[in-house]
Amino acid sequence: MPDYETMPFHLETERLLLRPWDPSDASWFAELLAERDGEPREVERIRTAITELLDATATTGIALLPILRRAEGDVIGYCGLIIGRATLDEPEIAYELFRHAHGRGYATEAAAAVLGAAAATGRTRLWSTVGTWNAPSLRVLEKLEFTRDRVTREPNGEVAWLTRPLP
Ligand SMILES: CC(C)(COP(=O)(O)OP(=O)(O)OC[C@H]1O[C@@H](n2cnc3c(N)ncnc32)[C@H](O)[C@@H]1OP(=O)(O)O)[C@@H](O)C(=O)NCCC(=O)NCCS
Repeated sequence: MPDYETMPFHLETERLLLRPWDPSDASWFAELLAERDGEPREVERIRTAITELLDATATTGIALLPILRRAEGDVIGYCGLIIGRATLDEPEIAYELFRHAHGRGYATEAAAAVLGAAAATGRTRLWSTVGTWNAPSLRVLEKLEFTRDRVTREPNGEVAWLTRPLP
């Protein structure tokens, strides 16, 4: 695998800041995961998960990053790079926001900054895998000029694989 630069972990956009995880993020992260599927999470377990995320980043040089709104100062979710179903060479972009923050262009704005951060590592291609039912996520990727490569079938349904070259 080629040598890549470590991804920049502090990103700034017009309305948002992305920064590294802190153990104190465990309480809102637990709420976000519970909002996703209605399953309450133990904050202590989420604190451990955050430590694991930070350990993984120390090895891979890529990360998911919490997203804060600059004006309000609150956390609205996360966005970043993961290996996921792809590879460390050509990782996946991923994002998830609290429902109250949907529909205002935040995911697109955060993901655009992550595209820049991915390009800064020297990588030349990203992926995303999305349930074919997930119209909002597919729309975010379309706005960011990802194109559909293929669709695979998994036990939970169809997954679209989208890809985007980096400048
Ligand atoms: C996917 C997600 C991050 C999008 O966040 P967001 O900040 O609302 O996204 P944006 O506002 O930047 O863009 C959403 C786009 O989807 C569109 N959209 C929303 N619901 C839609 C629907 N049901 N059908 C079609 N388009 C839809 C919006 O209109 C917008 O497009 P537009 O700018 O052309 O109007 C958010 O829905 C989320 O957190 N979902 C749960 C987690 C998730 O699915 N993550 C992705 C896993 S692959």
